[in-house]
Amino acid sequence: MSENNHGDKNRIVLAYSGGLDTSVAIAFLKERTGKDVVAVSLDVGQGGESLDAVRQRALDCGAVEAYVVDAREEFAEEYCMKALKANAKYEGVYPLVSAISRPLISKHLVQAAHQFGADTISHGCTGKGNDQVRFEVSIQSIDPTLKAISPIRDLSLTRDVEIRFAKEHELPITQTEKSPYSIDQNVWGRAIETGFLEDPWNGPTKDCYSYTDDPAFPPVEDEVVIEFRQGVPVAIDGRKVTPLQAIEEMNRRAGAQGIGRIDIIEDRLVGIKSRELYEAPGAVALIAAHEELENCCLEREQHRIKRDIDKRWAELVYDAQWFSPAVHSLNAFIEDTQQYVSGEIRMVLHGGRAVVTGRRSESSLYDYNLATYDSGDSFDQGASNGFIEIYGLPSKVAAARDVKFGNGIAVPKEAVE
Ligand code: ARG
Repeated sequence: MSENNHGDKNRIVLAYSGGLDTSVAIAFLKERTGKDVVAVSLDVGQGGESLDAVRQRALDCGAVEAYVVDAREEFAEEYCMKALKANAKYEGVYPLVSAISRPLISKHLVQAAHQFGADTISHGCTGKGNDQVRFEVSIQSIDPTLKAISPIRDLSLTRDVEIRFAKEHELPITQTEKSPYSIDQNVWGRAIETGFLEDPWNGPTKDCYSYTDDPAFPPVEDEVVIEFRQGVPVAIDGRKVTPLQAIEEMNRRAGAQGIGRIDIIEDRLVGIKSRELYEAPGAVALIAAHEELENCCLEREQHRIKRDIDKRWAELVYDAQWFSPAVHSLNAFIEDTQQYVSGEIRMVLHGGRAVVTGRRSESSLYDYNLATYDSGDSFDQGASNGFIEIYGLPSKVAAARDVKFGNGIAVPKEAVE
């Protein structure tokens, strides 16, 4: 067997998490396709095992190469910060935890495919979710010549088959007891689905959560000041932070207050409605702070347009379009709006809520002299007369026409005693 068949490009690169599914997939893919498997694992802040341990398991399960990357900074800076600038919340609530990690993982999968001579990329997703679409559309968007295969979706790798296969092949897998949930987590948050949560009337139990404590029994309130520069957090309580540190610190502090728990029925890209739990304490608190700073620093019309753009950005990124021309163009708009989104936000974190209590910024458009009702008012109230006359003119003309035709807006008759 030639060890170095880079020129032949006949290997498979597998997105390897270290769990049962993808561990079995290494040997299973090799057996079913005859191709050597290269395992690729990323640290995107999911915690748990060290990359070394994951790498060793991949090799023990038969991978010819195991490529591991600490991608936490890259994920925080280039993925989470884009989501923050876009205030990204799919269907108004879900901060795109899994949706933003798939494109980054895909980029590294393609890089590994080129480095180790693979023509096919594989992942452990089922055929029912969004993640398969995100991996494969992202991969195609970077290198359209690569093929994709999913052992679970395409080679009918079920849990029973997995356990039998692992035993027969003496794979070094210990964790055969099934977690009741399907979990995906990274530094931006955590997604929890399946199991008894599939009955949407079942309330979440304590064991669903790990990034957040119960908001019903919070510690004393926690006041935090977050400083942003051009839409990115740069300091917390006066201490300089990197984007990764900002997210981690807010995960800890907002998590302790039970902030960022989400329980929804969500519309998947593949047409299924699914019950999803999320916990994203840092993301939810940072987005709330960022949104308030935008309230201060964005011009009204720019801000109105941005709210629409933000919504489309979240939908497109949810829908596997991270590397698409559409998202590329929206990014340019969003980036441009962040020029003056600099300043400080003070928030109180307590009992499940992150409430803004103060804001200040050199580039704020809030003008005390225009807003005040005290002396020092520089707003010319008299000018409102002319403004209303002209602004209301179309309605006034139309109302006169409606009255002429007997279609005026009915008002209650005067009550007569
Ligand atoms: N429904 C969410 C999404 O599409 C979460 C997916 C989580 N993935 C998982 N394998 N549990 O982004």
